[in-house]
Amino acid sequence: ETKNVAILVGSLRKESYSRKIANIFASLFPEDCAVSFVEIGNLELYNQDYDDENNAPESYKAFRDTMRAMDAVLFVTPEYNRSVPSVLKNALDVGSRPYGKSIWNTKPAAVVSVSPGSMGAFGANHHLRQALVFMNMPTLQQPEAYIGNVRNILKDGEVEDGHTMVFFQSVVDAFVNLIHLYE
Ligand code: FNR
Repeated sequence: ETKNVAILVGSLRKESYSRKIANIFASLFPEDCAVSFVEIGNLELYNQDYDDENNAPESYKAFRDTMRAMDAVLFVTPEYNRSVPSVLKNALDVGSRPYGKSIWNTKPAAVVSVSPGSMGAFGANHHLRQALVFMNMPTLQQPEAYIGNVRNILKDGEVEDGHTMVFFQSVVDAFVNLIHLYE
């Protein structure tokens, strides 16, 4: 049975390294996974007044409907100020409400964090994991995917180094195993 895997990218910029890494991860899933990018840049800033269904922006409804059909979520995100970019946190908050109707509940997740720095990507990864605990998403523990020095890894949107690709594939394989564990 096909598994629907959503990829959410925590950067909106055109030349985002995170999106380039996400494209590579997307290509590594097996055939029984239907992978799709779900865009989050059009979501209005979350406001609790919108929990009233009559007030909810169209973008919220569309996002929640799309995500409800997903079996699992791969987050690929940069680190902003040692935390998660607000655009991604906003999407988490939108999806988590109205209370009791969270679209995240029980969906398996994996976190890939990306940074051009050598010390980056840990903070965003673990701040995101903190939210995933509360949202009750069984999250891939190992291998952890902190993609540092990303400029050295990417050449024209591709990864040339074989060891890096083997590592990326091992992350996807472990995530797919996790997805099947929770079916
Ligand atoms: C950054 N950047 C950054 N990098 C990092 O490793 N740790 C950090 O805490 C931060 N903080 C931060 C804050 C803000 C507001 C910006 C705009 C940037 C640098 C960041 O990693 C770099 O811009 C990446 O290229 C962003 O990811 P994308 O857009 O290439 O996917």
